Formats: sequence, C-alpha cells, structure tokens
Amino acid sequence: MNIKEVKIIDIPSTEDSRGILSSIEQNQDVPFNIKRVFYIHQIKGSRGGHALINTDQLLLPLCGHFKVKVYDSQHSKVFILNDITKGLYIPRLIFLEMFDFSENAVCMVLANSKYNKKKYLRSLEEFKSYIDKVGK
Ligand code: TYD
Repeated sequence: MNIKEVKIIDIPSTEDSRGILSSIEQNQDVPFNIKRVFYIHQIKGSRGGHALINTDQLLLPLCGHFKVKVYDSQHSKVFILNDITKGLYIPRLIFLEMFDFSENAVCMVLANSKYNKKKYLRSLEEFKSYIDKVGK
C-alpha cells in the first residue's frame, strides 16, 4: 500500500442554531463497510505501533488533538488530527504510530473488519519484511 492513499476525509456536517451534526455512511463517506467501532481515551503515552493486514480504518479526533505518523515500505508522513469534522483514512498495510495526545484526547476508529490480533504486524521490521514477501 502506498502512503499516498492515506488521506484526510471531510465528514459531512450540518450546522444550525442547535449546533453541528456530523454523520458517516459506509461506502459513501468512508471507502469501506463499517464492521467495528472502537475508541481510545484516558490515553497515556503513545499508541499504535503496528500495521493491519486486512483492516482499513478511519481515525477521528472526537476530542482534543494528537499526531499520527504513517509509513509505507519507503516513506513516512505525520498528520495532525485536531478537527472533529476531519478523519484520517488509513488503508490496510500502512504502519501507524499515534503520539502527542492532548490531555483530554479521544480517538474514535471506524474499521472494516472484526478484531483479530493475528492480523497485526507489530514492528516496522516485521511490517517491512511482510511487504517484501507479499510484494506490495
Ligand atoms: P492495541 O491493538 O494494543 O491498541 P492500540 O492500537 O491503540 O495500540 O489494543 C489494546 C487492547 O484492546 C488489546 O488487549 C486488544 C483490545 N482490543 C479489542 O478488544 N478490540 C479492538 O477492536 C481493538 C482495536 C483492541
């Protein structure tokens, strides 16, 4: 997977006198079926540090802000997530690290697969040798 496929997605949002409502529909506002939602909160230190073999994700900064560093087999790039109406789309086979969380940060993740701990590549070395092996 190429790092150029990682992108910020604008979440459709409607503002009126009562506030803002943002909504996400699968295969329309995100390029996958949503099978799982999880969120991380009361975050201490860094998270992530893995690539997923079969999972596409959208990361949303529901509260606060944080940084995400993504890697393909050759390049890396840092995104700052600080706007609740902008999510970061990370397709499968991209290595990611999350860090510099603000004190109140909450990150919600939409994913296209059920959780399966066997489908994780848990170090950059393991990730790069997997990519070499499958030729992506
Ligand atoms: P982990 O993958 O280490 O989190 P992060 O990606 O933020 O580093 O997961 C932490 C724990 O949560 C681990 O025990 C597995 C569990 N977990 C689930 O039960 N379901 C899920 O969907 C996820 C992502 C994790």
